[in-house]
Amino acid sequence: MNQNIESHLIENRVFKPAKSFAKRARISSPAEYEELYKASIRNPEKFWAGEAKELLWHKRWKTVLDWKPPFAKWFVGGTLNASENCLDRHLDSPRKNKAAIIWEGEPGDQRVLTYHQLHREVCRFSNVLKRNGLKKGDRVIVYMPLIPEAVIAMLACARIGAVHSVVFGGFSAEAIRDRVNDCGATMIITADGGYRRGAIIPLKQNVDHALQGGNAKSVGRVIVFRRAHNEIHIEEGRDVWWHREMEYVDANCPPEEFDSEHPLFILYTSGSTGKPKGILHTTGGYLTGVSATSKYIFDLRDDDIYWCTADVGWITGHSYLVYGPLANGATTVMYEGAPNWPEPDRFWKIIAQFGVTILYTAPTAIRAFIKWGNEYPARHDLSTLRLLGTVGEPINPEAWMWYHKVIGGGRCPIVDTWWQTETGAIMISPLPGATPCKPGTATRPFFGIDAVVVDEAGHECDVDEGGKLVIRKPWPSMLRTIYGDKERFKKQYWSDFKSQGWYTTGDGARRDKDGNFWIVGRIDDVLNVAGHRLGTSEIESALVSHEAVAEAAVVGRPDEIKGQAVVAFVTLKEGQEGSPTLRKALCSQISHAIGPIARPEEKDIRFAEALPKTRSGKIMRRLLKEIASGTEVRGDTTTLEDFSILTRLRHMDE
Ligand code: WTA
Repeated sequence: MNQNIESHLIENRVFKPAKSFAKRARISSPAEYEELYKASIRNPEKFWAGEAKELLWHKRWKTVLDWKPPFAKWFVGGTLNASENCLDRHLDSPRKNKAAIIWEGEPGDQRVLTYHQLHREVCRFSNVLKRNGLKKGDRVIVYMPLIPEAVIAMLACARIGAVHSVVFGGFSAEAIRDRVNDCGATMIITADGGYRRGAIIPLKQNVDHALQGGNAKSVGRVIVFRRAHNEIHIEEGRDVWWHREMEYVDANCPPEEFDSEHPLFILYTSGSTGKPKGILHTTGGYLTGVSATSKYIFDLRDDDIYWCTADVGWITGHSYLVYGPLANGATTVMYEGAPNWPEPDRFWKIIAQFGVTILYTAPTAIRAFIKWGNEYPARHDLSTLRLLGTVGEPINPEAWMWYHKVIGGGRCPIVDTWWQTETGAIMISPLPGATPCKPGTATRPFFGIDAVVVDEAGHECDVDEGGKLVIRKPWPSMLRTIYGDKERFKKQYWSDFKSQGWYTTGDGARRDKDGNFWIVGRIDDVLNVAGHRLGTSEIESALVSHEAVAEAAVVGRPDEIKGQAVVAFVTLKEGQEGSPTLRKALCSQISHAIGPIARPEEKDIRFAEALPKTRSGKIMRRLLKEIASGTEVRGDTTTLEDFSILTRLRHMDE
């Protein structure tokens, strides 16, 4: 299992929420949590229905849950509109003129959109979408920098019932093409470019490449927002400018009502096999999940300035930058660029400038901040912060303590939130006013979430015994299927404990004597590099598509900052030689096929004469992982086809 994070510090202290925080919090003691949690597990439908009632429905549902494992329908018969819930609902209150989005671009440009303004822009853009032929149920790729228009595009799709599929700007043209073809998108919404460390990411150019040569044929329209003013090609009859289109429309676009189970979005994520899977989320259940968790876990208040540093290309951006905070009428901060541009104090500067009160970021970022040094946060006044959060990977106690002391000034609770693209919303996390925290554990399940750690046979593990993390009961924001592939959906998530109808997370975990969950990491062939999910099989298929490569096996090795790093063992075809040039070429190949985020360091391309395999021909990944990690090879290796390979692998420097 994943021992990838070196912890130099074992921290056993327990951090209780400050009295002042607890007093104001929605849930303010462990006893209150226990009581509510027990009740919510006895009757989850009652708990979730109570939360769903806080949303604006056109028609109230008839049945809370229709559960035919593994297929769930939540709030059956109910109708609503997600964009109306995030926008219109706040217009009849003083929230109308409060900031919905405070945005900062990497070059330093800033914009604030009030709820009134955001609503207006979303309505106008919804009309642009309609004008361009988009209809309910159509799929749209959103490939944008982290600018307000990304949110406007998402909410406009939701408003007219189109299904958005956001593709992170760090993904390649090939990745866009695969996604277009998988979901049959008819439109792409993009920008000329976006900023990253002073450079311009050529988003539109990537889209052009994706659509080149009649590929991704379903796309008939590309809407381009002008962000970077770089030179781009406009394909007559296919491409239109966002700002031009906006001139033709008015701001009147009443929200249509959609079935609770109407698809809201598809988000692609890596799995242990094959290409990325299109995780499908639907309207009523998803919104209930993200709205309730935002309220309880981030303790959102009307005077908060809340900042989730994720990009909208990831589920964290969907749930906790867009839908969760906006459904709660919160002010959400967006920053387009890199944390160390132009200097490593950029985050702290933003916090001081806008008076950020809640910060939600990733352990990998925290570890980078530690490395850059305390002088950067020390330059700025961080006293407005009252709550901190992390997501994406286990946080090592050392990083937790630094975050607590240096950023939180010792006064802010930290919510270490465990969840997945598939779960839609946070599943395991402290409640900031109630849960005593121990650095390194995501602590306890959220209300209505029946999480347990079990062995292969499905028996609950003993205290501190490692096992599989599973969820035994359905929850509203759960994925409904893998787009277009029901069978894969069943196999991937529901086949381990089929007769019980339990969801397998793919993560390993253990519970301590206080019932806290310690997430150990993925137990399948998925890597977590800097909080980003990467499938080893995707990287392998990128490698073998290079003409010099015969076989490839990709594993993770521990990395101090990124948590894990990609290591590729590669065997070459007859007559091919491993060389620094080939190493570089293979790295570029990965970047090209998936995106720069998957690119390994050149030293992590390791040429081998052969790969170690079992007698049945399976690559022995555990062994490769140990070699990549530089740890000694342990355990039973007698199934190796060729023992000499092992020795060669271990001595195959350069
Ligand atoms: C990992 C991100 C430990 C886990 C929201 C999970 C975590 C995968 C935590 C999902 C956490 C996420 N502690 N591990 N607090 N949060 N993970 O789909 O392995 O990008 O399965 O969703 O990230 O990654 P995904």
